[in-house]
Amino acid sequence: MLRGLSNIAPGVDNAFIFILIVSVALLALVTGVMVYFVIRYRRKANPDSTEVEGNAALEIAWTVIPTIIVLIMFYYGYKGFALMRDVPDGAMPVKVDSKMWSWGFEYENGIKSADLVIPLNKPVKLSLNSEDVIHSLFIPAFRVKEDAVPGAETVMWFTPTQTGTFDLFCTEYCGAGHSKMLAKVIVMETGEFDKWYVETAAKAKPKADGRALLDEKGCLICHSIDGSVVVGPTLKGIFGRSSVVITKGAERTVVADEEYIRKSLLAPNEDVVKGFPDIMPPQGEAMTNDEIEAVVEYLKGLK
Ligand code: CUA
Repeated sequence: MLRGLSNIAPGVDNAFIFILIVSVALLALVTGVMVYFVIRYRRKANPDSTEVEGNAALEIAWTVIPTIIVLIMFYYGYKGFALMRDVPDGAMPVKVDSKMWSWGFEYENGIKSADLVIPLNKPVKLSLNSEDVIHSLFIPAFRVKEDAVPGAETVMWFTPTQTGTFDLFCTEYCGAGHSKMLAKVIVMETGEFDKWYVETAAKAKPKADGRALLDEKGCLICHSIDGSVVVGPTLKGIFGRSSVVITKGAERTVVADEEYIRKSLLAPNEDVVKGFPDIMPPQGEAMTNDEIEAVVEYLKGLK
C-alpha cells in the first residue's frame, strides 16, 4: 500500500518519503564522488600523492547542509508525532486487552470483539493494556503502532479514511505464539457500524445470574444452599440427588436431573419431596424462561 489509510498516515509517509529521498540522493552522491576519485586520482595518473590543506568553505558547507536536512527530517517527524499524541475529545473509546497470544477489543457499551470493528472517518481512541508481557499493536495500513505494557495503560488514536479489512499485528516479540497474535481491523460505513454495534450488544446481553435470582425471588427463604433444612429441602447438591417424592398421592424415588429441577420450578406441587409441606408456588409467572434456565444452570453446579 503506497499511501496509509488513516489521518495519521500522511505524517508518517511524508517523513518516510523525505528520509528515503535524502538517503538515496546521498548514496548516489557518495558513490558517484567515490567512483570519480578512484578514476581521477588513480596511481597511474598521480604517481606522487598531493598534500591537501583544509578548506573552510567546504567544511562549513558539509556541516550546515546536513544540519538543515536533519532539521527538516525532525520537522516532519515531530509534526506526525504531535498529531499521534493529540487525542481529540470526541474519539470513540475502545479498550484493548492483550495477552499471550490474543487481542480483545471492548467497547463502551460492554461488547467484546476479537477484531477491531470501527466506523469510517471517525476518530478512535484505543487504550491498551497487557495481562502479561509487553505486546505492541501495529496496523501497517494506518501507520500506527503502540506498545501494550503490563501495569501501565498506553493510548493511541487514529481516524480510518477507507472502508475495508486490514491486518493488525503484535509487533513486539512475546513468546512462542507471537507470530499468531493477529486480529483484523474492519472499517465500516457509519450506518453499517451502528447496526453492528447495536446488534452485537443485543446478542451479548449478559445471562441472568442464577444465584442472584434465588435471592431476588425469595427462594432462599425456604431453601438453603448450605445443606441446612429450612422450610423446604436444601438446594445444596440437588443435582443428581435421589429423593422420595409424593406424586399424586403415591411415593416414588426420583433422581434430580435438569428436567426434574425445571419441573420443580414450574410445577412444584406435582412431585413433593416426602416430609416437606406442599406449599411452594409455581414459578412460571415469577420468572422468565431465561431466568428459569439460569436457576437450573446454577443449581446444576451447586455442589
Ligand atoms: Cu504479543 Cu508479540
